[in-house]
Amino acid sequence: VRLLTLVVCGCWVATVVAGAALAQGRTAPAFTSAGELILPTDYREWIFVGTGLGMTYGPTKRTSEQSLVFDNIYVAREAYGSFLQSGTWPEGTMFVMEGRASESHQLLANAGQTQGDARFLEASVKDSTRFPDTTWGYFNFGAFPNPRSTARPLAKTSSCYTCHAENTAVENSFVQYYPALFAAAKKHGTVKPTYDPTKRF
Ligand code: HEC
Repeated sequence: VRLLTLVVCGCWVATVVAGAALAQGRTAPAFTSAGELILPTDYREWIFVGTGLGMTYGPTKRTSEQSLVFDNIYVAREAYGSFLQSGTWPEGTMFVMEGRASESHQLLANAGQTQGDARFLEASVKDSTRFPDTTWGYFNFGAFPNPRSTARPLAKTSSCYTCHAENTAVENSFVQYYPALFAAAKKHGTVKPTYDPTKRF
């Protein structure tokens, strides 16, 4: 009986430890002591919210079909769940955007594009303590094959801040392009009154 108790007790302790690690939020953004965002190694296991194809904005102009890039957007699991419930992003929300080359295929399909090599990594974090003026911070981890493992917040004068503040449907995020999230935002009435789908930027 004593042995059985010990075994049961051991299992319980192990369960509690695993639970604590999850509750801490494995996907909560982590920063170095110098304030640089640490690139999470498992972002491809986060919730995938959508992909833009050939979203050339700002100074980047599309040159040919060959240069179309896929932007794959991932958000941390806890934040995703919270958004479905409320239509708003909780403090500590983090997005990762991974750019990938497109490849043309004519073997099985008559035409069409699939994803190729990873190209670049950018990120955003909602943290009103760390970024009191902008609420969201923006980060560039650079280009593959060697993206940086940490990135400092980009300067507030960077175009990321204005474009994401002015053209987004919910808070600073382009939820209008992430269908399941856009549906949740409409249901909860959290689409910004300033959001104008006909506006060009
Ligand atoms: C001219 C407008 C514009 C600028 C400037 C811009 N973005 Fe974006 N960003 C977008 C659009 C549009 C999307 C939607 C997804 C896509 O591009 O496929 C997006 C999506 C994102 C996402 C995914 C989460 C979200 O907010 O929807 C991240 C992360 C991101 N951008 C980071 C950056 C960073 C970092 C910079 C600055 C280096 C930047 N962006 C500059 C327009 C912009």
